[in-house]
Amino acid sequence: MEESGMHIQWYPGHMTKTRRMIAEQLKNVDAVCEILDARIPISSRNPDVDELTAGKPRLVVLNRADQADAEATRRWGAYFRGRGFAVLECDAKSGRGTAKFAAAVRELLADKLQAYAEKGQTGRVVRVMILGIPNVGKSTFINKVAGRKTAKAEDRPGVTRSKQWVPIDRGLELLDTPGILWPKFEDQSVGLNLAYTGAVKDDILDIETLGCHLMAYLGGHYPEALAAAYKLPAIPERQPEENTVAYGYGLLEEAGRKRGFLISGGEIDTERMARILLDEFRGGKLGRFTLELPEDL
Ligand code: G4P
Repeated sequence: MEESGMHIQWYPGHMTKTRRMIAEQLKNVDAVCEILDARIPISSRNPDVDELTAGKPRLVVLNRADQADAEATRRWGAYFRGRGFAVLECDAKSGRGTAKFAAAVRELLADKLQAYAEKGQTGRVVRVMILGIPNVGKSTFINKVAGRKTAKAEDRPGVTRSKQWVPIDRGLELLDTPGILWPKFEDQSVGLNLAYTGAVKDDILDIETLGCHLMAYLGGHYPEALAAAYKLPAIPERQPEENTVAYGYGLLEEAGRKRGFLISGGEIDTERMARILLDEFRGGKLGRFTLELPEDL
């Protein structure tokens, strides 16, 4: 990226808290479930989790699949499966896919469950820790998976149940407070991806520059959808002499002109257009897009 000057807010306290929670609870869980944003599965993932969860079986949830490019989500699923993770695609808001969670966990832990069964320990409860960055959908996911109304209090006689565990079914429980991870801004594209999706505040970068970068990405990867969304005849390809921001700025101007966002002197209000673009992108009004792909890694 051409720009420097991104203002990233860093909250080391959050990560310290999560690290502590993981360290304390790891011994109590059988598996760790990481919730990712299917539109940005790498940017929404804290790579320290690999080391922090120390060899526990892992499930990756590609959440917000309703907002992501379905074909790209399929490729991401294959990518994570190829690295030994169980994968679940879902949309926690509508609940689509969440019903498969219990089966996915059992499949992940099949060997362990079989070993329990062989020892006659058939009633053992499997416990899972949920982790994810802010706003990725952790609470929504837990509520949907647990069918929240019954989740809080399950008073079966003779069973003392700690408040700490949310029962999913008779043999599966989740740790009731998800671990909040902080994304890791290893390069600026991660910061941009998190800003486009609204995972971090807009003031990471001025809104117009953010809009230029998003336009440039959509223009390069999803030209037809972008043209349709803004009723543009065709999206020009980026020229070799054009940098990302200049290309995106041109597209912002085109879209702004079409929308009639003019300021005095006939100039186009590209800042307003940038704000609208980000709002519409986040609201899913432009279509379903994935902002990073396994083959680009
Ligand atoms: P968190 O615990 O990880 O911080 O996230 P939380 O569940 O609070 O979800 C953050 C926002 O994302 C919520 O929207 C939630 O509805 C939305 N969301 C969660 N999962 C999905 C998904 O798979 N698809 C879509 N489209 N949205 C999802 P909100 O606007 O804050 O609240 P609400 O008005 O939607 O309830």
